[in-house]
Amino acid sequence: MSFPTRRLRRLRTSDKMRELVQETTLSSKDFICPVFVQEDLKERIKVESMSEIERLPLRDVNEEVEKIINLEIPAIMLFGIPTAKDEAGSSAFDDNGIVQKAISQIREKFGDKIVIMADVCLCQFTSTGHCGIIQGNKIDNDTSLETLAKIAISQAKAGVDTVSPSAMMDGQVAAIRKALDDSGFTDVSIMSHSAKHRSNFYSPFRDAAECAPKFGDRKTYQVPYTNAREAIMEIETDIEEGVDIVMIKPALAYLDLIAETRRKYSIPVSAYSVSGEYALVKAASQLGYVNEKDITLEILYSIKRAGADMIVTYFAKSASKFLQES
Ligand code: PBG
Repeated sequence: MSFPTRRLRRLRTSDKMRELVQETTLSSKDFICPVFVQEDLKERIKVESMSEIERLPLRDVNEEVEKIINLEIPAIMLFGIPTAKDEAGSSAFDDNGIVQKAISQIREKFGDKIVIMADVCLCQFTSTGHCGIIQGNKIDNDTSLETLAKIAISQAKAGVDTVSPSAMMDGQVAAIRKALDDSGFTDVSIMSHSAKHRSNFYSPFRDAAECAPKFGDRKTYQVPYTNAREAIMEIETDIEEGVDIVMIKPALAYLDLIAETRRKYSIPVSAYSVSGEYALVKAASQLGYVNEKDITLEILYSIKRAGADMIVTYFAKSASKFLQES
């Protein structure tokens, strides 16, 4: 009878032994917590498709941020839902816009206790629901760049740390970097949604942020989920344009791209575990088909194991609590 020469089970004999050889770690410090703030809202509204996620009125934002800080989560990602939408998306770059107000209010109360990141996009702000400006019947890339740059500047004026363009317009990082630098905001960093895919995992977000396209889809600007080399070219382009942190989005179905980006580049890599990933877990947990805590942690550990340095996730608060318990 021949015995195995290598016994990997030797290092799985006890909790302490397993801890000793654990390769990947996860902590609340890895998380960026999304926050939805809606203009003219009186009371919090639950997001139907995303259990435990709410849209907040401006007056509740600081209370929410305080909870996030207390959970030792280092960063938030702000998304705004404006009252007025128009073709130019002008409420997005209004210095008195909902996102700008939220940024300055948080900055004033919490100083440097939290990294304030904000989404830079147009779809919540345009009457068309598209991420760029429509000219004729097309989304005009270069006109959209001017608007995206204006949004970034107005957020910078309000005191944002990091702008996070998610419009998938070509040249968005270069346009925003130049505009920020020209206005003296050389310290405002850019975390681009570099490889943002045309994904079916975003539908609950559209419920959360009211940004579904009114016609057509996002196929002319977001990366097809069939194309890995194209995704890597998007990342490469953002690095050339001066991005500070690249992002791959969604996360769970795109772990190959997270791993490849990590191997190929030295830049910090973030992964966005999107609304659909969250909704699936929540729904299955509520039905009793999976254990919410175990499956949440497994997913987040896997995203870290693939190579993400940080994760934008709707699980940020619940997972931080789970990690404190375990
Ligand atoms: C819009 C935007 C979307 C998400 C983040 N920013 C939706 C979209 O592109 O349709 C999705 C995030 C999520 O699903 O959690 N620019």
